[in-house]
Amino acid sequence: MLIKTKKSSQLSEQQVTDESFYHSRRDVLKQLGYLGAGSLLAQSASANAGALDFFSSKKDVLFQQQALKFQQASESSQILTPEAKVTSHNNFYEFGTGKGDPVENAQGFKVDPWQLKISGEVDKPFTLGYDDLFKSFPLEERIYRLRCVEAWSMVIPWIGFPLAELIKRAAPNSRAKYVAFETLYDPEQMPGQASRRIGGGVKYPYVEGLRIDEAMNPLTLMSVGLYGKTLPAQNGAPIRLVVPWKYGFKSIKSIVGIKLVEHKPPTTWNMLAANEYGFYANVNPDVDHPRWSQASERRLTTGGLLARNRIATLPFNGYGEEVADMYKNMDLRKDY
Ligand code: MTE
Repeated sequence: MLIKTKKSSQLSEQQVTDESFYHSRRDVLKQLGYLGAGSLLAQSASANAGALDFFSSKKDVLFQQQALKFQQASESSQILTPEAKVTSHNNFYEFGTGKGDPVENAQGFKVDPWQLKISGEVDKPFTLGYDDLFKSFPLEERIYRLRCVEAWSMVIPWIGFPLAELIKRAAPNSRAKYVAFETLYDPEQMPGQASRRIGGGVKYPYVEGLRIDEAMNPLTLMSVGLYGKTLPAQNGAPIRLVVPWKYGFKSIKSIVGIKLVEHKPPTTWNMLAANEYGFYANVNPDVDHPRWSQASERRLTTGGLLARNRIATLPFNGYGEEVADMYKNMDLRKDY
């Protein structure tokens, strides 16, 4: 007998959303024939591009992938963090260190034109312009938990494509062992880069890195949208990384450079405080931050009392089934 198993990490939309806009977007997509019972997966980038052209005037209202890939149900207790919370409670030090600073200070941030350069140990380096970010790879919707190292978490419906697709297109050579990411450096637009006081003493540009197998893991997403719209500036427009089994600081925003490299690249928070923030930064309830426990987290949900939801933190943020194998020979207390 065939038994359909669901991975414990997977979330479904029915279980996570209470947003009226989100529902109305789904209704519109359905009327347009983009959502069938089985929800087709995008077949080709060019077909996707056609869908985008069709909707181009509405890019910020409707996210127009011709098919969304939906995930299976598993955990009935997951509630989507409301869009208003996802877009107003942010860490984006380039726009200030307060949780409300990015939404306030990033509003004029210009994302078009944009250039994302893929380079390094690859046979086919390439650069994507702003429109290419949405047209080059079939887009999918992924509902992921985001667990910040500060011990709060959200559940967010991202739109994006697997980083693996982008890397494959660049044809990495055998020296490509790590992937280094870099955020835009533009102190005129990013007040935190112009002032140590506003930017929290971080050395800019913000940089991050993954091992190549982590970068190629199917869960690793390049996100260009959330809640059915293009990314708001404060969430890392026009393109950011989402690595759901790692602490949020790995999910670098507003990326302009992705470089395949031979050696482990430097990463921003590790450079700032190596004893507190490691290169791997896998969510781990058994390894505390030197200044606080990582055993539990505050799940940001609907506001009010629920916003204080305290829940147990899961190893690898609940994605162990998909990712734990990559670390089976490592001491995660040492490589935190
Ligand atoms: N990327 C850049 N460039 N600058 C930042 O300050 N903060 C990180 C990460 N990416 C950060 C960044 C941290 S600490 C977290 S928790 C997440 O972004 C927060 O993402 P969110 O604001 O979309 O929730």
